[in-house]
Amino acid sequence: MSINTIEENRNRNLFGDNDEVWLFGYGSLIYLVDFPYLESRPASIRGWSRRFWQGSHDHRGTPANPGRVVTLIEEYDAVCGGLAYRVEASVFELLDEREKNGYLRFATEMTFTDGSHASGLIYIATPDNEAYLGEASEYEIAQHICRAEGASGANSDYLLDLARALRELGLEDRHVFDIEAHILQSMDSG
Ligand code: SIN
Repeated sequence: MSINTIEENRNRNLFGDNDEVWLFGYGSLIYLVDFPYLESRPASIRGWSRRFWQGSHDHRGTPANPGRVVTLIEEYDAVCGGLAYRVEASVFELLDEREKNGYLRFATEMTFTDGSHASGLIYIATPDNEAYLGEASEYEIAQHICRAEGASGANSDYLLDLARALRELGLEDRHVFDIEAHILQSMDSG
């Protein structure tokens, strides 16, 4: 699959005739909201775990020194919490540009905190994209993140901002918080 997913995402018409679509965000879409939205609500999806297994050649790294950012990995019965946004369908043009480094749009079901559900879209970077880096220990991921930087800033800021945003939402994510602890430790030790 091409590393730039803009064209493929444009060809995935997952909106039907809907003018408004729910978007589920689980990574930087939680804390870096540079797109217009009509409403946002905490939500979760089942069967997926958040992992720092995707490479970033554009925002938090370079092709020569990719950063590590989150994608979702299928895991039976896992629950991934995040933030859902109701957006106008036209906003996906902006989002496709932002998520172009390996992420594809998929349809998903999400559950809001009051137990109600909605269908919507999500961006996932699957293992067959060229920027995918795959599994590593939380310690190794932290070391990697400390060395990477891209056009959107330091890779460590992506992780620290995400960890902070998850806490503000009252969400627990062992993988993210373990990497955060390693990063803070290596910052402390200079
Ligand atoms: C997301 O936040 O939902 C996708 C991954 C990212 O842009 O960080």
